[in-house]
Amino acid sequence: MAATIKGTDVEVPLAPTALRFMNENDDERFLANAAQLASAVQRLGLRPDDEVLDVGCSIGRLATGLMVNTDFRGRYVGFDVMPRQVRWARRHLAPIAEGYHFRHIDVRNDRYNPGGALEAEDVTFPARSDGFHVAVLFSIFTHFYKEDVDRYLRELRRVLRPGGRVIATWFLYDEDSYEAALTSAYPMVHRLDDVTIYNDPDDPLRAIAFDEGHVRAQVAAAGLEIELVEYGRWNGGPGPEWQDLMVLRRPEDPPPSFLDRVKGKVRRTFSRG
Ligand SMILES: C[S@@+](CC[C@H](N)C(=O)[O-])C[C@H]1O[C@@H](n2cnc3c(N)ncnc32)[C@H](O)[C@@H]1O
Repeated sequence: MAATIKGTDVEVPLAPTALRFMNENDDERFLANAAQLASAVQRLGLRPDDEVLDVGCSIGRLATGLMVNTDFRGRYVGFDVMPRQVRWARRHLAPIAEGYHFRHIDVRNDRYNPGGALEAEDVTFPARSDGFHVAVLFSIFTHFYKEDVDRYLRELRRVLRPGGRVIATWFLYDEDSYEAALTSAYPMVHRLDDVTIYNDPDDPLRAIAFDEGHVRAQVAAAGLEIELVEYGRWNGGPGPEWQDLMVLRRPEDPPPSFLDRVKGKVRRTFSRG
């Protein structure tokens, strides 16, 4: 099934099925899911000229959706811990559209990159500070331990522009929704600690859920604000997405104090000579 960059006849290659996840063995399903991701980020505020960071980009499913289904013409940077997926995206997607970049980082994740050289807790994103309008994490925190979420939230704060936003999906529970998590599409019947439950005893990172109060505290500690929470359909919530979704915002920087303004003026006067 051929797909093209919107408004052109430039063909968008689709990754071999061996590199895809989530049983997306047929191209139609893969493209439908890619379109769905792109439409979600647009619905939640991505503008055509923005700079967007795709954390855990894999083979570039979101990038594919942006190319095929939207008028996005800004800058896209994706990174991931799986070398083959990133290599494929870099070879096949980056050359066909300007402004798309894919990077690999060798970070350990028990499910996706168990031999990784770096711990997630020590990661610095391959992305400059204050650079991005939007950062996207689709199905990333649903495969992370809470300590790694802490580090990633702090890095997100660093790379966002003031006022920039994070769009991230989760599996969340609280006192009211705990029972629903136990009987959800991924019954979260195992407990790791007082704020973490998970589905598969042999592979905790297959699907992991966090206490919402804990996540809210982590977000605040990282210097981000919660702008929106949508409860997904995985445990019977209203959606529209399958997983729970949060939009986080880096607050605008405070205006410079009177003293800072005076110091700036003095510096400018002397540097003029
Ligand atoms: C379920 S897949 C989702 C991929 C992509 N976001 C999408 O929706 O198509 C989870 C991804 O997270 C990536 N990942 C796992 N640990 C990571 C880490 N520490 N940093 C960045 N990506 C990571 C995996 O390699 C995998 O590609």
